[in-house]
Amino acid sequence: MRIRPRRLRRTAAIRAMVRETRLSPSMLVYPIFVREGRGIVEDIAAMPGQKRYSPDTLSRVLEDAANAGVSNVLLFGLPEKKDERGSGAYAEDGVVQQALREGKKNFPQMLFISDVCMCEYTSHGHCGVLKGTGSAVDNDPTIELLARTAVSHARAGADIVAPSDMMDGRVGAIRTALDAAGLEDTAILSYAVKYASAFYGPFREAAGSAPAFGDRRGYQMDPNNAREALRELALDLEEGADMVMVKPGLPYLDVLKAVKEKSPVPVGSYCVSGEYSMIKAAAANGWLDEKRAVCEAAVCLVRAGADILITYHALELAGWIRDGKL
Ligand code: PBG
Repeated sequence: MRIRPRRLRRTAAIRAMVRETRLSPSMLVYPIFVREGRGIVEDIAAMPGQKRYSPDTLSRVLEDAANAGVSNVLLFGLPEKKDERGSGAYAEDGVVQQALREGKKNFPQMLFISDVCMCEYTSHGHCGVLKGTGSAVDNDPTIELLARTAVSHARAGADIVAPSDMMDGRVGAIRTALDAAGLEDTAILSYAVKYASAFYGPFREAAGSAPAFGDRRGYQMDPNNAREALRELALDLEEGADMVMVKPGLPYLDVLKAVKEKSPVPVGSYCVSGEYSMIKAAAANGWLDEKRAVCEAAVCLVRAGADILITYHALELAGWIRDGKL
């Protein structure tokens, strides 16, 4: 008798039958940048293929997403004006609020997730209000503003709010505020485990959200820590998170797996801007095959535990999944 694992790798049909990890377009979330203005569709230099849209042109990309079979989108906003307290984040006519109203009206069947954070809206670029002259973010005043932001997004049509600020207690504050506003059906997808990562570089160009001074290490997690992720998970669950996410994606597969093992709620993985741009840059140089690299990365994230995959490659991936390659 010879044990031969290769028997199950012999043909495409056998490989497809015994595949352990399978992807579906319904697990994909496509992030979209919305900026204030009218008639705008502009390229994002650091993220080839991705664009910024004004609320009135948003329907074009929502149409593309729907045609690709992607029905979940995550909105980020770029306001016209920034200030110390990030007031554009919770303004009733803020850019994300406008986009949500527009999107919900034209694409009622689509699931709208809104990123809840202050960094795109503050003049200093930090994810909350500052304590003094340094880059320390004042936790409790910030979570009040985040809760206000979440309520205004939900009122404008967000089905799910996704806080990405990493302040302590924000999930609880947001849940309390949503419930008090009669928005019990709005779900919270918490960026429960978010690291202070260099891989957010291209996003900060896309969203104009780089900190003017200092860095985010006083609130985002230290990449050297994995067990701390379970502490963040436990806290967010206790505070009422309906779903959690680990971010970034590929460098944190161990963390994703550990979170998946302990999480009773769905777990997302955010394959971030730097991961996208690295593949784009290498592919543009002919150094790797974009389609194969993107598919492999997606499969690995799902194999490690992602129930939900947030990726700038969502539209192409949906097609590749349907072609039966994943
Ligand atoms: C806002 C936010 C960031 C990302 C998602 N929400 C940037 C940051 O924390 O600096 C990064 C997403 C990406 O890189 O694709 N706080």
